[in-house]
Parts: sequence; structure tokens; C-alpha cells
Amino acid sequence: MKRTASTGIGVAVCMAMVVGMAAPEAFGQDTRRRRGAGQEVRPVDLTPEQVAQLTKVANDRRLNVDDLLAAAKTFMPSGRHDEYVLFSSGGQSGQVFAIGVPSMRLLRSIAVFTPESWQGYGFAGDNDPVLESLKINGRLVSWGDTHHPALSETKGEYDGDWLFIGDKANARVAVIDLRDWETKQIVKNPLTVSDHGAAFVTPNTEYVIEGGQYATVLGYGYAPPEEYQKHYRGMVTLWKFDRVRGRIDEANSFALELPPYWQDLADAGKGPSDGWIFINSFNVEMAAGGVERGNPPFEAGASKRDMDYLHIIDWRKAEAAFKAGKAKAINGFPVLMLDTLIADGIMYFAPEPKSPHGVDVTPNGQYMIVAGKLDPHVTVYSIDKIKAAIAGKKHSTKDAYGVPVLDFDAVVEAQVELGLGPLHTQFDDKGYAYTSLFLDSAVARWTLGGEYASMHKQTPWKLVTKTPVQYNIGHLAAAEGDTVSPDGKYLISMSKWAVDRFLTTGPLLPQNFQLLDISEGGTTMPVIYDMPLGVGEPHYAQMIKADKLKSWKVYPEIGWNPHTQRLDPRAPKKGDEGVTRDGSRVLVKMTAVRSHFFPEHVEVNEGDVVTWRITAIESAQDATHGFCIGGYNINLSLEPGEFVEFTFTADRPGTYPFYCTEFCSALHLEMMGYLHVKPRSLGGGE
Ligand code: CUA
Repeated sequence: MKRTASTGIGVAVCMAMVVGMAAPEAFGQDTRRRRGAGQEVRPVDLTPEQVAQLTKVANDRRLNVDDLLAAAKTFMPSGRHDEYVLFSSGGQSGQVFAIGVPSMRLLRSIAVFTPESWQGYGFAGDNDPVLESLKINGRLVSWGDTHHPALSETKGEYDGDWLFIGDKANARVAVIDLRDWETKQIVKNPLTVSDHGAAFVTPNTEYVIEGGQYATVLGYGYAPPEEYQKHYRGMVTLWKFDRVRGRIDEANSFALELPPYWQDLADAGKGPSDGWIFINSFNVEMAAGGVERGNPPFEAGASKRDMDYLHIIDWRKAEAAFKAGKAKAINGFPVLMLDTLIADGIMYFAPEPKSPHGVDVTPNGQYMIVAGKLDPHVTVYSIDKIKAAIAGKKHSTKDAYGVPVLDFDAVVEAQVELGLGPLHTQFDDKGYAYTSLFLDSAVARWTLGGEYASMHKQTPWKLVTKTPVQYNIGHLAAAEGDTVSPDGKYLISMSKWAVDRFLTTGPLLPQNFQLLDISEGGTTMPVIYDMPLGVGEPHYAQMIKADKLKSWKVYPEIGWNPHTQRLDPRAPKKGDEGVTRDGSRVLVKMTAVRSHFFPEHVEVNEGDVVTWRITAIESAQDATHGFCIGGYNINLSLEPGEFVEFTFTADRPGTYPFYCTEFCSALHLEMMGYLHVKPRSLGGGE
């Protein structure tokens, strides 16, 4: 047992017992009432008295048998852990949320594009590395619109190592390390202002792919709307991911120029379709809007035609062309231009009905499912047919920019009528697909064809059942639903409207994440939980088996720098603390441990530039400290073993208490000290 507190162990134990804040390592956990992992669970065999008790609770609370079953399927006894973790985008909050499934308990938020004080993310003084990474063209853009999280994959399976997420508003992609669940890198797309189809990964995370959406003049250029067709362009960027460094390798990344259709969601092929990426588009009409000028509004202009274009891109050929030096620099970033894509046979189109939204590749990689929000069908494309059509030159037309358009009948396998407003599709282990129906407010279960039909002895391409959801579902996420081997079991409906589902929270209501039990086949697919999520408007989520995550319990060594993910030689060690001065530059070396900072008084002069280093010399799990200086906008999260450095100019004289912002121990309130900034008038800063 390690105790380093200098406050006297007797007092600490006594105080801790009084307030019930004992550190687990010091006092042992209360296992008497704990029903955690490893604890013996006896089979349920209800006595008549217990049945009567349960019945009374059900009747008092007006619960029916389905409610009781749903509760039993989702209730997580204290200490028991969830089977899955749902990583959800946080929409305009700019963050990612991690939610346990099936309990639907929010486990934590992960700060990504928005400073977040609990995690000390973006509150580390001047030149904060987080705030630096959020700057675009020198301006701090301190929020994001996170849309599509993508877990890293190995051989098409989630491997639990990394999570990527795109910022639609600002065309950025972030890299989160799932060992400490912290954002490590943010890259800004130099070509485009905003994006949408980000992020998704190739089956071995060779590339993190960022698709665009609203066409612009690439590279932050300008052209008036009259020159839309001539100068506006779409793009897709292939960010090379370096697993060893755990960073996107910007120097080996490149983009493809696309026509100014609004590229939408995207997916990477796998198995027989490995090497291809598929991107939806809408507004192939190239409507330039201008309702105020008497033109049709975008919503009408972009929906005139019956068909848009599915973009079919051979990313290995694109990579070869990039490596052969065929890219042209736009705003310093290499771009393969349309003429190269056509000449090298890198990109083909296939017609797709009608203003589609999602394209999702089946787990076996054989089919691409396109859902057209203005068409009641999903359209199923076959990779075999696509390859044959390319080889046999079955493209009787070209688009306005010369891209070959494969003949619809040559590449389509099936069309399945599901209902109104189909958007996105997920998969399970029983040969079913699940498609969200926005206008119907329902999840449709339908059968896949091909080898799925024979394996599961089912009629191919057929609607099986629909479950109503409340309300207006956007994306859905099934357990391991984007992998080569989905688990089935659970599906989350990310319902946009909650209306009457929860207590009214003023005019702004939460979203509703509804949990569907998809473990039984056929027409059984009940909603078993409603989870209000009142932070941002999440778009997409992915659900990973919890035992694939290799999360650290504490940082591996005392003095760990989470930005570099290694021991930092600058981290102050115990016995090494103090304040030193070099002219007007002050260096503070501090340690933090239950329940004190060392040193407790830091004296500087007005105008000094203060560099302050703190090491949390804790190794017990959850023994996190905070550190704040009020008035200077500084707050840190000092997790066990973590080293943090921050710099600020002490330009406001006065006496500033600094204190620990995390209730760490019985003597947490005493974990404080004073920053004394001596005014110039009293000789400070002379
Ligand atoms: Cu350390 Cu509270």
C-alpha cells in the first residue's frame, strides 16, 4: 500500500471514514453489496412471494410484461459492466460520447473539437497545444459539428485501437487514442471549408477517408455562383494513417477532385470489394440556388432528376497515381484531377435513385446498399456486376465532366421497397439488413440475398418487419455493424425528435437514442430502452464489443505526457519541486498527490512569463486531481501519472488561490495553494 500524503495517515483515515471518500487501494472496496464481475450469480427461481412483490411494483408503476422484460434486458446491476460501448458523435457539441450498451449509461464524453473544462481540454494557458490544433488559418475555431465516428479496423474488424471523427462544419478529422480516450491529432482539410462523409476507414485502416459535401472552389478559392459548374468542385481526401505513430501522415495523404455534385456518405469495400470506395451524391443537377434571385431553391433544384451518381473509386489505383506523381498541388495539397481519374480508370459512376443519403457495404463485401431519401426503395448494387461492367465497358453515357456512367441495369442486383425516407443501413449475424426510415419513423428489417439467402434459408431481398421509433430516425448503429462479422443483438435508433418521450426541457429537447433488441429474428424487434441525450445532436455512432478495448487504468509511468504518449523528461519528480527564475521568466516545478500540491506558495512578479509543470504522482486508479487558477482561465485534469505543462503571463497582480477541482480525497478542500502576483507598484516586475 502506497501512502505519500503528508497530512498524517491517522487523520486521513479518520476523515475518509467520516465522509465515505476512502480511496479503494487504501481501505478496500465494499464487496458485501457488490455484484460485480466474477461474483457468483444464482439462477432466478422466483418464490410466490417474490412474484407477488414484482407484480405489485409493476402494477404500482403501470408496467406491463414487455416493460418488465425490457427492464430485465437492460438493467445493469451495480458493478456489472456493459457488453458493448457505443461511440457516438456529439453533433454540434463537437465531442464524442461513449455509452454502455445495453444499459445505455453515458460513460464519458471525449473532448474533440470543443474545449472542455472537466478534461482540462483547451484550458492550459497561452499556446495551449489543444487550442493551437483547433486554429484554422490562424483563427481559433473552437467548436465542431461531429458527424461520423469510425473505429480503426484490422482485416475488416474493429480492433479497438483508434477512433476517428469528422467535423462537418470545418472539414477536420480527429484521431482519438482508445488507450486513454483522448484526442491526439486534428487535421484540417486544406481544400474545402466543410465536409460530410468523414470519417470512414479502409479494412486495415490504411486510409482514413474524408468525403466532402458542399462544393466550393477547392483550396479556399473564390468564384461567383454563376460560375458554379465551371469552378466549383467536390473532393474526397485519403488521409494516410500511421499506426506506429498513431497519427495521420499528412505528407502521404492526397485527394481526388470530384464534380460539383454534393457528395454525401461513403463506405469502403471489403472482401471482394476491397480496394474500392463508394460515395453517394445528390444535386447532380448542379443547382446553384438563389431563391432570392427568382431561381428554384436548393431543395427543389437539387431534387429534379430521378437519378444521381454513386461514385465508385478504385483507391489502390488512385494511390498508385499519387505515388507516380500525377497529383497537382492545390493550396499545397496533392489532388488527382478529374482528367487523371478518367484516363487511369480510377473513378466510375452508377446511376442511383433519387437524392440518396447512405451507402453501406454488406459484411461479405458483395453488395452496396444505397438508400434514396426520396425513393421508397433501397437499391442493391453488386460488386461482381460493377467489375464486369467496368471490364466490359458497359457505360453508354458520360457525365458532364466525362466520367463514364455504368449502365444501371448492368450493376443493380435488386431493389427492395421498404417505406418512406430510407436513409442508412446496418447488418446483423442472421442475414438481415436494417434500414432507417426517416419519414416513416421506423426501423425496417429485411433479408439480404445471394449467399445470405442460402445460408439463412430465407427469401432474398424482402421486407420482414418494421418497428416504429420516436421519432424521425437518422442513423442507426448495430453491434459491430460496420464490420465483416456483425454481432446482431442490439441496434440503436438515433431518433432526431423526442417530442413526448421525456419531460419537457424547455423548447430545446434532447435526442432519443432508442435501443432495439434484434437478437430474435423474424418479426420480433422491440424497443427496450429510451435514452435522452441532451448534449448536441449526434449523427452517427459505432458499437464495439467492450472486451476489444485495451483502455489504460492509469498512465503507464509517472510523468507521462499524453500528447506524445511517452514519459516526459520535463516532468517534475518528487523531491525536485520548486520555483526558479531567469530574468522575467519563471519556472514552476510542482507535484500533486493526495492531498497537496508541492509547492503551495508560488510568488511571481507582475508581467512575468510563468511556465508551470505539474506531475500527478499518483498510481491508484481514479485518483485524479484537478488544478485551476481562477481568473486566468486555467484548469487541468491531472490523471494518475499525467504530466502537464502550461505557460501564461502573470499580467494581473493579486493573490490567486489555486486548488484541486476534482473531489479526490477527504482533504480535497485543503488541496490548494496561492499564486502571488506582486504588483509593479510594490516592486514586482522591476
Ligand atoms: Cu486533489 Cu481534490
